[in-house]
Amino acid sequence: MKKIILSALTAMFMLTSCAQKQETVQEDNSPKIGSELFQEFQLPAPNKTGGKPLMEAINERQTMRSFSDENLTAQQLSDLLWVTYGFNRENRRTVPTSRNKQEMDVYVALKSGIYLWDSEKNMLNLTVEGDYRKETGAQPFVGTAAVEMIFVCDKTKLDAPDEQKATEATYANAGFMSQNVYLYCASQGLATVVRGMVPKDELSKIMKLRGDQMIVLAQTVGYPK
Ligand SMILES: Cc1cc2nc3c(=O)[nH]c(=O)nc-3n(C[C@H](O)[C@H](O)[C@H](O)COP(=O)(O)O)c2cc1C
Repeated sequence: MKKIILSALTAMFMLTSCAQKQETVQEDNSPKIGSELFQEFQLPAPNKTGGKPLMEAINERQTMRSFSDENLTAQQLSDLLWVTYGFNRENRRTVPTSRNKQEMDVYVALKSGIYLWDSEKNMLNLTVEGDYRKETGAQPFVGTAAVEMIFVCDKTKLDAPDEQKATEATYANAGFMSQNVYLYCASQGLATVVRGMVPKDELSKIMKLRGDQMIVLAQTVGYPK
């Protein structure tokens, strides 16, 4: 009798946890993007729920340098970009910025080109056509993942008393963005590495950046190999 009650309880527990899982796992039917060139791409609204519990994501946060080049879905890109630097309140973002200057722009280098993310419209806008993922770094693994993110400071928004203060603030701000990417990747089973080693002068030319824009960090994101 005891055995029957125990098995019934176990079955009930399994059914409940399955039902709970189904509630939290949202299906992603969006297309994989990156290989096809586009002038602009409207990303789906970011999914702001779900994922691993924070403590688990922090426990699993790590740098990985081995990637498959499988493209991310439009939904994954949208979620990744929102986590990195999206709005989570009126005019305020998922990351803090010194004196709330919000001076950063996020570019993504995909197989088809480099795109500037418009964080207000959640759109990707083509900046340069062509595969420049490799050109965002100097290490052998760079360019093997589907996505290379480039965090670029718009110095005109900084209004800092001197260049050193501006640089300090913007590097701190980029650090928050990077950590959000790390946690998102840990939560989603993706691999990532933040990179200070970026050929900034050459890449700035490729990206046609203005003199008052400065590349701060790059971050590789993709499926682990
Ligand atoms: C500001 C900064 C710059 C970094 N630059 C690079 C880089 O250019 N290339 C690289 O492979 N790793 C880079 N890393 C990753 C570190 O090597 C990595 O975080 C460190 O080895 C610890 O590993 P963990 O992130 O798994 O804890 C950088 C990390 C930080 C915080």
